Amino acid sequence: MSTPYNLIDQNHIRQQFPILQRKVNGQNLVYFDNGATSQKPLRVIEAISRYYSNYNSNIHRGVHTLSREATEAFEAARKSLASFFNVSNQQQIIFTAGTTDSINMVAQGLAKNHLQRGDEIVLAAYEHHSNILPWQLWAEEQGGKLKVIPLKENQQLDVEAIEPLISDKTKLIAVTHVSNTLGLISNLEHIKSISVKHHIPLLIDGAQSAPHMAIDLKALEPDFFVCSAHKMYGPTGIGLLYLSEKWLKHLPISKTGGGTIKTVSFEKTEYAEGALRFEPGTPHIAGAIGFSEAVSFMRELGMDHLHQHENLLVQHAQKRLRELPEVILYGDSAHKAGVISFNIKNQHPFDVGTLLDQYGIAVRTGHHCTQPLMNLLGVPGTVRISFAVYNTLEEIDFFIEKLKRVIKMLN
Ligand SMILES: Cc1ncc(COP(=O)(O)O)c(C=O)c1O
Repeated sequence: MSTPYNLIDQNHIRQQFPILQRKVNGQNLVYFDNGATSQKPLRVIEAISRYYSNYNSNIHRGVHTLSREATEAFEAARKSLASFFNVSNQQQIIFTAGTTDSINMVAQGLAKNHLQRGDEIVLAAYEHHSNILPWQLWAEEQGGKLKVIPLKENQQLDVEAIEPLISDKTKLIAVTHVSNTLGLISNLEHIKSISVKHHIPLLIDGAQSAPHMAIDLKALEPDFFVCSAHKMYGPTGIGLLYLSEKWLKHLPISKTGGGTIKTVSFEKTEYAEGALRFEPGTPHIAGAIGFSEAVSFMRELGMDHLHQHENLLVQHAQKRLRELPEVILYGDSAHKAGVISFNIKNQHPFDVGTLLDQYGIAVRTGHHCTQPLMNLLGVPGTVRISFAVYNTLEEIDFFIEKLKRVIKMLN
C-alpha cells in the first residue's frame, strides 16, 4: 500500500519496545489497547532502572551526592515536560499520580472557596468517569449542578449547544480533548472562545490527546490541563497537572504534608510557592524520570509524524471495518485521534474481545469508563481498538482477517 508520507522505519520503532517481541496464545502480539495504557520503549525502562541502580535517593533538601543527582533529574523532568507542552514557567507543571488524581486536586481545591451552592459546571457527554465523578461528588456534597454538552447524531460534540448551557452560575467548563471511547476530537478553539467570552475557567482532560498530537499550552491557554504518563509511553502512577499562572497562585491545596512548606510551627505554616506547594510527601521520582524520557522519545520521533502515522492507521482501520456489513462503527470520522469503537451486530463486545485474544490481538471491551456515553449509544459496551506509533497497517489487516473469522464463529 502506498502512503502519503515517508514512514519512519517501522521496524526501528518496534525494536525499541521489548514487549512487542512476545507471543500471546502462540501468536505475535498485536497490541491495540493503547488507549488504556501504551507499551514502554526500552529507553524509558532503562531510565527508571538507572535511577534505582545508580542514584536512588530522596529529593529536595539532601546535601549528599545521590540526593543532589536525584533532585536534579526530578527537576529536569519537570523542565522537560514544561518544554514538551510549551510552558515557559516550569513551576506550572505539577507532578501528580495521573489524570484522575489531577482532576480530583482541581475539584477539591475549587470546592474550598471558588465554588458555591447552586454553581454549575459544564461537561461533555462523552467524558471519562474521571472527569465526571469528582464534579458529581462536589455537586452532591455542596449543592452544585452539572450541565452536559450534548452530542450530534454523528457523535461529534455539539459545541453550538454550549452557550445556551452557560449562566451566571457557570464556574467551570471541564472537557475531554479527545474522547477515549470514540477518538473524536473536541473543538477546543470554539470551547476556549466561549470560556474567554464568559470569563469561565477551562479544564482540559488531555489523557487521550497528549499521546497522539502536539499540544501547545501557551497557545491553548487553559486554566487547567491534565494527562497521564502511562498513556504516553511512560510509567504508571505519574501524570501532571498544569496550572495557569493565576491558579498556581490561587488554587487552594487539597492535600498537604512534607515538602510543601517554607516554615512550620504548631501555630502556623507558611507554604512554598510554585509546584512544590502541590506535591506533598515523597513524589514518584522514578516515574517523573521515566515520564521525561517518554516525552523525549515522542519529541525525537516528531509529534506531527506520530499524529500522521496514527491518522493513517485510523483511516485504514475505519475503511476496512466499514467494508464488513456486520460491523456498527461509532464516531466514524476523518478527523480523530488513534481510537475506534465498534460492535458486531447482535454480539456482545466481550465475546468479540475474548475470541480476538486467541489470535494474540489485545483490544478493550466494555463501557471504557464512559457509561453515560454508552447510555446515549444504547449499548452496554463496545469493542475499542486504539493505536500507538508502533502499530502497523499489516497489524490492522491481520486484525480484520481474524475479526472476519470471529464474526463467522459467533454467527
Ligand atoms: C479521557 C480520559 N480521562 C481520564 C482518564 C483517567 O486516566 P488515569 O487512569 O491515568 O488517571 C482516562 C483513562 O483512560 C481517559 O481516557
